[in-house]
Amino acid sequence: MKKSMPKNFLWGASTSAYQVEGAALEDGKKLSQMDIMNKDTGFADASVTSDMYHRYKEDIALMKEAGFTAHRFSIAWSRVFPDGVGEVNDKGIEYYDNFIDELLKNGIEPIPTLYHYDMPMALVEKYDGWINRQSVNDFAYYAEFIIKRYKDKVKKWLTINEQSIIVEFWKKKNFVPEKFHNNPQIKFQMNHHMNLAHAIACKLVHKYVEDGICGPAIGYSPIYGLDASPKNMLAMLNAEDLKNHYFLDIYFQGKYPVGAMNYLKENNMAPVIEDGDMELIKEGYSDFLGLNYYASKCVKFPEKDNNYYREARSNLTGKKGGMGAYEMMPDFYEYIKNPYCETNDWDWTIDPTGMEYLLRDIYERYEIPIIITENGLGAYDTLEEDGSIHDEYRIDYWAKHLEAIHRATELGVDVMGFLPWSFVDLLSTSNGYNKRYGIIYVNRTDDDLKDLNRYKKDSFYWYQKVIKSNGSIILN
Ligand code: BG6
Repeated sequence: MKKSMPKNFLWGASTSAYQVEGAALEDGKKLSQMDIMNKDTGFADASVTSDMYHRYKEDIALMKEAGFTAHRFSIAWSRVFPDGVGEVNDKGIEYYDNFIDELLKNGIEPIPTLYHYDMPMALVEKYDGWINRQSVNDFAYYAEFIIKRYKDKVKKWLTINEQSIIVEFWKKKNFVPEKFHNNPQIKFQMNHHMNLAHAIACKLVHKYVEDGICGPAIGYSPIYGLDASPKNMLAMLNAEDLKNHYFLDIYFQGKYPVGAMNYLKENNMAPVIEDGDMELIKEGYSDFLGLNYYASKCVKFPEKDNNYYREARSNLTGKKGGMGAYEMMPDFYEYIKNPYCETNDWDWTIDPTGMEYLLRDIYERYEIPIIITENGLGAYDTLEEDGSIHDEYRIDYWAKHLEAIHRATELGVDVMGFLPWSFVDLLSTSNGYNKRYGIIYVNRTDDDLKDLNRYKKDSFYWYQKVIKSNGSIILN
């Protein structure tokens, strides 16, 4: 028998609002924090990006040509409620009405994400966004409006994109006032507020959407210990608990892992949990997991005398600022380069085996359906004179990851679909338009908008064949 992906496997790709729509201040939309995050980085900002706001019909026609059966996109909160709460922006919601209808008309299932890093600036200015518990109520207000509006058209809902990354890079993905910069408890407090917001959105889907299912889209890396030394294996367990289980246990078991939580308490970083919070989190259970996988991570046990340790300690004591969250766990684990894996141009590990590893690991622990909501290779692409783009490196990357996904399904993991990153080239969060992810090339650079025309890359034609054969062209 020929090998292929399971029956009804969903095929498509993903994007997010601030990375593709542009029109950042058009038709009543006001700024989100991501519209201005790239200021002064030297990369493009979010004002135009890939101009999907004006070209969505052309783009959805390309999705149809590729054979998509689903598409993941995000809704920009500040397009719908420019001030975060209050009056709805009719023009803004009309864009999503049209977008969703166009997808459905073309036989493509819409899978929206409610929040992809883009807190309305109005709420940042009012109370510092997720730092303030009021954000939970305001997110609920926005989520209820959207869920009620599309309850008959959307059945699979994603709440918050990559809480784990929002926490790890808390000062890059949020406007955090200076006074909090040396207080890592804040990031775990923001995370707790997002957990509440996520739970409320899941409850709303269960309340309003017949046969609706709801889940997070998590940024997830399996974590390997550097070697079999017991200390390094312990560091692996520590990192798994604090970086992975800390998020998934909440979504699927309604609890924080005990070891990680006690470690946070010992280090004065634990979130304040109010009466009733854990009950709410349990009630707002997730039905499935959206999984964003790019790279695995490797750890060793920190050596207390090395420079790394000293620097991390000084951050904890507030003498120096500016490290990522998990580098501040000096007696728990330390990231280290994996000597067995190659990396991309930005030093991200390329590890297709990690895809099989994490799918099996997550499924054994939680037994929930999983949909791949991001996976892809950021790379420099070249538009040739004849309009072709030869991105065989991207094809190779996806082929190997799809083989790993297939193997996991053979062993019993319930994978619902593959929605890689990304459909069109978009504003890379960390590298603007240098680093491209799409199966469709968008003709622009960071400094020059050019004509923003679309060109199909070799990966587009390859993916079209993969979809048509339900994966069998790469699996046999
Ligand atoms: C994911 C995000 O973390 O990684 C996307 O959900 C992002 O928004 C993607 O674009 C790739 O990261 P980067 O930094 O290369 O854009």
